Amino acid sequence: MNKHKALTIGLFGFGVVGEGLYKVLQQTPSLKAHIKKVCIKHPGKARNAPADLFTTEKDDLLFDNEINVIVEVIDDADAAFHIVSTALHQGKAVVSASKKMIAEHLLEILALQQQTGLPFLYEAAACASIPVIRNLEEYYDNDLLHGIRAIVNGSTNFILTKMFEDKLAYGEALLLAQQLGFAESNPKLDVEGYDALNKWTFLLTHAYGITAQPDDILFTGIQNIQLTDANVAKEKGFDIKLVAQAQKLKSGQVAAFVLPQFVTKDDHLSFVRNEYNGVVIESGFSDKQFFYGKGAGSFPTASAVLSDISALRYDYHYEYKKLYHHTPAELSNDFYLRVFVSFDKLNEVPKDEFEWIEEWHGGQERSYLVGVIHFEKLVAHKWWKHQGISLIVTPQPVIEDIEIRNLKKRSLELAGII
Ligand code: HSE
Repeated sequence: MNKHKALTIGLFGFGVVGEGLYKVLQQTPSLKAHIKKVCIKHPGKARNAPADLFTTEKDDLLFDNEINVIVEVIDDADAAFHIVSTALHQGKAVVSASKKMIAEHLLEILALQQQTGLPFLYEAAACASIPVIRNLEEYYDNDLLHGIRAIVNGSTNFILTKMFEDKLAYGEALLLAQQLGFAESNPKLDVEGYDALNKWTFLLTHAYGITAQPDDILFTGIQNIQLTDANVAKEKGFDIKLVAQAQKLKSGQVAAFVLPQFVTKDDHLSFVRNEYNGVVIESGFSDKQFFYGKGAGSFPTASAVLSDISALRYDYHYEYKKLYHHTPAELSNDFYLRVFVSFDKLNEVPKDEFEWIEEWHGGQERSYLVGVIHFEKLVAHKWWKHQGISLIVTPQPVIEDIEIRNLKKRSLELAGII
């Protein structure tokens, strides 16, 4: 795109993010980008912008030759994919914040970008104001990227903070997250981990060249976490966070999952409260780096959309370096996880699936254990997703084969068996 050319935007969606972008663009005239039309679903709603800006006809934007940028911030994944593919076929650059759509249609989107050569940018789709995609894409070499741990969903982090630090009830905390514009229109997507999973799906592409489907990644949300779990965490000096994790194994394959996690007080993620997100990157030579910023909300998300629009000026597009220029990594299920599991009287935990159990507490209402289990067993049997069972991984949860044999031996030695 010619750097002096005007950016004429067709915007899809005028919700929390769309309206935020409209306001932010009014305050950044130097960008020389203006919204020509906004396509909305419900024309009856009162909106803080001139009525003639709006249409309900998507083709008014997609087939307008003056519009050279489509910005799509709607929450219907199928409609969003139709908009993105039509816009790219029409020769328009596209900026999107639709994480579900990107996760579910990643392969088609990669093909569309190759076919059209046009930029499709989506920094706002993960961690809102934190420039995580561009950093993973541009800065980190796959071979040196040992691992990433991240809080990628603002609503669940907000709810956990409000419940366990500010003592709000779950319903109150969720309502607040909805009122503040952090939650998805269907908050089940946040609470049950789907939103974090979607974001993790394409962040793995930028980090490691992995092109997984959301179904390929083990996940759950915070729906089963109990106050008693938070009390156990407190006793042990931990916080509970919903953490997306990827770790390079000795085989070169990658262990990846999205699960609640106990984090120690000196973990950078412990510092991440409310709707903030955080990303801890471990890479060779640089050790740990921590990215922190607001992960949800109108202006933080709009700021990432704005940055993508601005990047179009210099023809920025993702090169998907780890996928096209390196040997892409593969996901592995061949490792062990150290987990905490708490469960009520109505549920049994299949103890024989564990390699060993380190701690066991039988309680009146709930019991819990800490043990080591092969990841494949969690993939194959989903008992840990049942209502009444909560599974939380411990700090440094990934254990590889060689270590487990040593640990086993040590525990047997300690028990005086060998
Ligand atoms: N519902 C999402 C969250 C919005 O809470 O993180 C930002 O993607």
